[in-house]
Amino acid sequence: MYQDLENKVVIVTGSGSGIGKAYAEAFGKAKAKVVLNYRSSKHEPELEKLKKEIEDHGGQALPVQGDVTNEEDIINLVEQAIKHFGTLDIMINNAGFENPVASHEMSVEEFQKALDVNLTGAFIGSREAVKYFLKEDKKGVIINTASVHDIIPWPYYVNYSASKAGLKSMMETMSMEYAQYGIRINNISPGAVVTEHTKEKFSDPETREETLKMIPAREIGETEQVANVALFLASDAASYIHGTTIYVDGGMTNYPAFMGGKG
Ligand code: BGC
Repeated sequence: MYQDLENKVVIVTGSGSGIGKAYAEAFGKAKAKVVLNYRSSKHEPELEKLKKEIEDHGGQALPVQGDVTNEEDIINLVEQAIKHFGTLDIMINNAGFENPVASHEMSVEEFQKALDVNLTGAFIGSREAVKYFLKEDKKGVIINTASVHDIIPWPYYVNYSASKAGLKSMMETMSMEYAQYGIRINNISPGAVVTEHTKEKFSDPETREETLKMIPAREIGETEQVANVALFLASDAASYIHGTTIYVDGGMTNYPAFMGGKG
């Protein structure tokens, strides 16, 4: 669909599962060269399969282990992309962490962990990509996976909500700095989407029902629906889109409690 993505070099952090994996598959189908980042070796067999799938579609793939909370690992990720594929065109900061704890019981370590993965990790990835784009005078693209919780408060997830709200502001700020060089930086904010991580909660009928009430479209999203937006944002079709957030949420951010029309 987006032919200009063919042969583009894209890094996807956290591509071992969930939305990251869907991004990698989608870019593979677009015949891009995809650097598949993962943290835990438990994802290795899955990534080998993903690599093969991407190659079968005519793309290329390079799995690179690395923890986004480790600055050296992200620097290495960018270096590997350039060494192996010759350049970097698209950086997708996707790796994320969430775990519910009541705010008054949350340790500083738990609070910090979400900030480290979701915000600082995306900052380092963005910084390294921008550095390279400026050096090469390249109109590169950066996409961060944020969340509807970059604007919707989320009880029991104060660390996550704060990190995603920060990620929104970080993206807008960096976009304002680098749009003048043709570097496009945007966020994708998914709502309730089925992943390995959320599958369990959404298969509980009560949780599912509660969640569906919060979604005007009355359906839980699929990772592919999120990945489609990444293809668009990375492509030339989005050439005038800078510093914005696309919500992929079935309308969740649109005050669904008012749907009855009686309030
Ligand atoms: C979280 C999901 C959650 C959704 C809607 C996302 O950011 O990762 O676990 O279901 O927001 O609340």
